[in-house]
Amino acid sequence: MDYQLLFSAFTALPAHMPWSRQRQLHECLRGAIRNATLARGTRLPASRTLALELGVSRNTVLYAYDQLATEGFVLSDRRGTVVASLGAVALPDRLAVPLRTGLSRRTQGLSALPGSDMSVAFAPGVPSLGDFPVTLWRRLLDRAWRSLKPAQLNYADPAGELPLRTAIADHLRVARGALVESGQVFITDGTQSSLDLCARAFADPGDKVWMENPGYQGALAAFRAAQLKPVGIVVDAEGLAPVASDWLRHRPKLIYVTPSHQYPVGTVLSLARRMALIAQARNAAALIIEDDYDSEFRHEGPPLSCMQGLAPDAPVLYLGTFSKTMFPALRIGFMVVPAALVAPLAALLARSAPRGRTADQLALAEFMQRGHFSLHLRRMRRLYRQRRDALVAALEQHLGDVADVYGGSAGMHLALRLRDASTDDVRLSTRLLGLGIVAPALSLHAVGTRIQPWRGFLLGYAQVPVEAMEKLVKMLAAVVHNAS
Ligand SMILES: Cc1ncc(COP(=O)(O)O)c(C=O)c1O
Repeated sequence: MDYQLLFSAFTALPAHMPWSRQRQLHECLRGAIRNATLARGTRLPASRTLALELGVSRNTVLYAYDQLATEGFVLSDRRGTVVASLGAVALPDRLAVPLRTGLSRRTQGLSALPGSDMSVAFAPGVPSLGDFPVTLWRRLLDRAWRSLKPAQLNYADPAGELPLRTAIADHLRVARGALVESGQVFITDGTQSSLDLCARAFADPGDKVWMENPGYQGALAAFRAAQLKPVGIVVDAEGLAPVASDWLRHRPKLIYVTPSHQYPVGTVLSLARRMALIAQARNAAALIIEDDYDSEFRHEGPPLSCMQGLAPDAPVLYLGTFSKTMFPALRIGFMVVPAALVAPLAALLARSAPRGRTADQLALAEFMQRGHFSLHLRRMRRLYRQRRDALVAALEQHLGDVADVYGGSAGMHLALRLRDASTDDVRLSTRLLGLGIVAPALSLHAVGTRIQPWRGFLLGYAQVPVEAMEKLVKMLAAVVHNAS
């Protein structure tokens, strides 16, 4: 055996490593066996000899040999210690071999929105994080933890904590016109996990799911991962606009809509279309997924009720999230399911989805029940309206000649549609990213190829102070005008 090699590997280990000498020697030997420097059948030196050679105690060597024997890297016989066979070929160093597997085929090809810093202008979907009442939240969390009994550290109710489900149902009845009892509310880890659950629980691989075109890529990812077949349905000024042949040729199992503030272009699904969709979904035995992600922030006109509340037992899975109303890292969302689906869903979750984070849920329940939630919403609504007004004014002034604003009546973002449909908005979006501005290209939200994709940008304004708006829009306008 080449002691020199082992000696240099052993002494080359960084001094700051918090490992004992025994552990270091074990690691060196294990690495040498794994990458076949020490081949199968090689007899390791006697412990005393190796100890002398390396200048360590004999116990250190004995420990390392023992550990290797326990893990199956060496065998001990009467004559000493021999390197065992690793079964198949020895594994070369990890870095040397490229991994030959990756994401599943069904998740590939999703158009990636540019990975970027979500804390800058105009990253859509992120609330004004600095305005969240963290001190109050910390106090409620602390109180929730102090109230927990040991039994509440166990796996929790898969549907979520009852006080939170009750607080959500109370809020939805008043604020969103929902027809809901607390038993119909299921707590999830946010809308993305609600979408995964809907796709898994209420559809089978190969089933068709309708999506708005353009539409939300997070939903598309969830549906693809569940091996559903997305069908893009055109969105017009009244929202999702299916034609008769869609119902015949692309009969859906699930219909995903964002009726209160279409994502990304912001249209509101008209009442007539809502009623028709509910009736036709009933006929087709389909379920509508109503993603009500940011409708708490309505800036113009009276508040709109949700679709779920339009008819008793509407075939609607209503999805809500606290990512916009509280903060995204909270990772708490919820689903409201028709009464007939409560028991089957609860049974499915009991088998497959243990729930926890009880203290977070209880703190959130108290935040809602004590009125902090409504107060925070009121404050944010006022703030976002000011920011939206400033953004719309700046866009009209600096880009009004080449683009139109859509979807500013609610939420935390709007769509800026460029009139020149040949503009390469992806290239412009990349250029803006280089200037520190996040403005996802609208064309990347296309679902299918049935219509010309919208060209332009999605602009989130919730995090952008009024004073900063003009300067940022001027930068945006310079990039757009330069290109045309
Ligand atoms: C259309 C839509 N739905 C839902 C969400 C929120 O998802 P989550 O609750 O997983 O944060 C977003 C976030 O940007 C969204 O844009």
